[in-house]
Amino acid sequence: MKAKEGVLDILNKVLVSELTAVHQYLLHAALCKHWGYHRLHEHFSHLAQEEVSHSSGLVDHILYLGGTPEMDHLDAVAAGKKVLELLEADLSFEREDADALREGIAHCAKVGDFTTRHRLEEMIVDTEEHIDWFETQLRTIKQVGVERYLAEQLAADKS
Ligand SMILES: [Fe+2]
Ligand SMILES: [Fe+2]
Repeated sequence: MKAKEGVLDILNKVLVSELTAVHQYLLHAALCKHWGYHRLHEHFSHLAQEEVSHSSGLVDHILYLGGTPEMDHLDAVAAGKKVLELLEADLSFEREDADALREGIAHCAKVGDFTTRHRLEEMIVDTEEHIDWFETQLRTIKQVGVERYLAEQLAADKS
């Protein structure tokens, strides 16, 4: 299938963001493990997996549209020295991702590419869940204090 105007550029832009998210959450998972916050480690590992599935879905779709997935660069990966810094950086990262997806969805509607629009809409559902999770963590920290929040993150969830 041939891509409509501008769609491949949007998909490749979103792909850079999703690949960056994979790296960022792998790093944040590793940092949390290193600091002993096993519960956060598990959640960041789960987020990294979701970003892998967003990335691979985009790669498939770019190929389907006859494009070339651009895999050879990333945006800057946010690091940090404290959990709070990671959570704040991740929330703003996810908000930017949601904005890019919303722009993509609007563009696809304009050019009449409903297949791509549907894919981006599926991704924005996960992205909004990610935003909600980060907002909840930051709200909890405000309510109970960072020490108490972190004490709760030491043990991994039992499953
Ligand atoms: Fe994503
Ligand atoms: Fe995300």
